Amino acid sequence: MRREHPTAVLDTQEQDGSAAATAVAHPNIALIKYWGKRDERLILPVTDSLSMTLDVFPTTTHVRLAPGAGQDEVTLNGAPATGEAGRRITAFLDLVRERAGSDLRAVVDTENTVPTGAGLASSASGFAALAMAAAAAYGLGLDDTALSRLARRGSGSASRSIFGDFTVWHAGPDTGDLDAADLGSYAEPVPTADLDPALVIAVVNAGPKPVSSREAMRRTVDTSPLFRPWADSSRDDLTDMRAALTKGDLEAVGEIAERNALGMHATMLAARPAVRYLSPATVTVLDQVLQLRRDGVAAYATMDAGPNVKVLCPRADAQRVADAVRAAAPDSTVLVAGPGPGARLVDEGGR
Ligand code: PMV
Repeated sequence: MRREHPTAVLDTQEQDGSAAATAVAHPNIALIKYWGKRDERLILPVTDSLSMTLDVFPTTTHVRLAPGAGQDEVTLNGAPATGEAGRRITAFLDLVRERAGSDLRAVVDTENTVPTGAGLASSASGFAALAMAAAAAYGLGLDDTALSRLARRGSGSASRSIFGDFTVWHAGPDTGDLDAADLGSYAEPVPTADLDPALVIAVVNAGPKPVSSREAMRRTVDTSPLFRPWADSSRDDLTDMRAALTKGDLEAVGEIAERNALGMHATMLAARPAVRYLSPATVTVLDQVLQLRRDGVAAYATMDAGPNVKVLCPRADAQRVADAVRAAAPDSTVLVAGPGPGARLVDEGGR
């Protein structure tokens, strides 16, 4: 089923004449994972990846140009952004300024509703919203493809959150020509047949992750003997995934997503030293997913850079799956998500 998502474009000129814009973006969960960069600066991935944008946990980001200000002022969930988070946002704004030929600093205000750093892709919605709001405030006039390329430079997975529903992010040509690779590495929507999926999200631990995905990817690419074989098999997974989406075969979609995710975690477990995001509660939920399958429910699991589990299933079974996951992991927070919209500009009231 293709759903129409509203896109309001309301760039504003604030009272004092400075340009400003507000954007909303949603996280996405990869069904074919992005794991491993071939260029750290440009954030070029080793493989293509494919994801579903969610209809929960939106990030809203307001960017206002601040003539006369000596530095960017960044607020994250009501508090000044410090350390690595602040540095990444300023570095991203530098990129936007370079393209806009501007040296104006900005005031950035971000409200993230996803638990930051919990492997639930807060960086995807965060940099997609920032890319869209900053590009509008600095007057870059980018289309969605160019916004996806730009968002990629903040966080790879953010390239996919520019679009709604199912999205593929192309790794870009790997010929050694970095300009061509940069140009060719963007996300775009994937056509699907009727699927009506739900993603049951089990937050077994909302705390920050022990190793950042950036560091974990680097270590995996550099040291894991399983990385190359997984990257090769991931290409086949993507081909199979596209076919399953075109056919509307949700069971096949789940099966491919689960094997791709478990393979990704195997690459990390084989890194030196190992990176292990999966916890005992993760495994408990995975056991319950197996039990659901034995009971005839087409439920399949995927995990990212954290212990939380996302279970893909038909929307009609979502409640049953959520109840089963809650029963298995009573300390977890369980919620049901569906396919959500791409990033969009909104007015001050969030419309
Ligand atoms: O975009 P990053 O650097 O947060 O990396 C995300 C990596 C995974 O979430 C584990 C997989 C993916 O494709 O989203």
